[in-house]
Amino acid sequence: MKINKRLISVMGCAVLLSLTTGCATRTVDKHARNMAGSCAACHGTNGHSVGGAPVLAGLDKTYFITQMKDFKSGARQATIMNKHAKGYSDEEFALLADFFAAQK
Ligand code: HEC
Repeated sequence: MKINKRLISVMGCAVLLSLTTGCATRTVDKHARNMAGSCAACHGTNGHSVGGAPVLAGLDKTYFITQMKDFKSGARQATIMNKHAKGYSDEEFALLADFFAAQK
């Protein structure tokens, strides 16, 4: 099959996604943002909680990751978070920690 140059340029970032750091970084951020969206119902938009759940915005990364791992393992007892943490990998905890730590 002949490679279509125009198609490649149209596809742009989508095609180069896994090849260039710039695009890859944006993908990571997007994944973190998507995951964080499922925390918003309780922890507020970007972790700015206005309800009963703790504020996540600006939380220390190490603290955040430790809490998520402890929720997952059951080392930290919680009402909701034990179940919730089980849906995420360690890599995703790190992405979420970066995301929330960056929120002002
Ligand atoms: C259904 C409501 C709900 C959702 C959704 C939810 N949380 Fe929570 N979260 C809580 C509650 C309530 C607590 C307080 C501990 C407990 O009782 O479970 C908590 C505690 C935490 C803590 C500990 C904060 C601290 O200061 O010690 C972290 C970290 C956390 N949640 C992260 C997340 C992340 C990340 C998500 C999304 C992937 C999320 N939560 C989704 C309700 C929720």
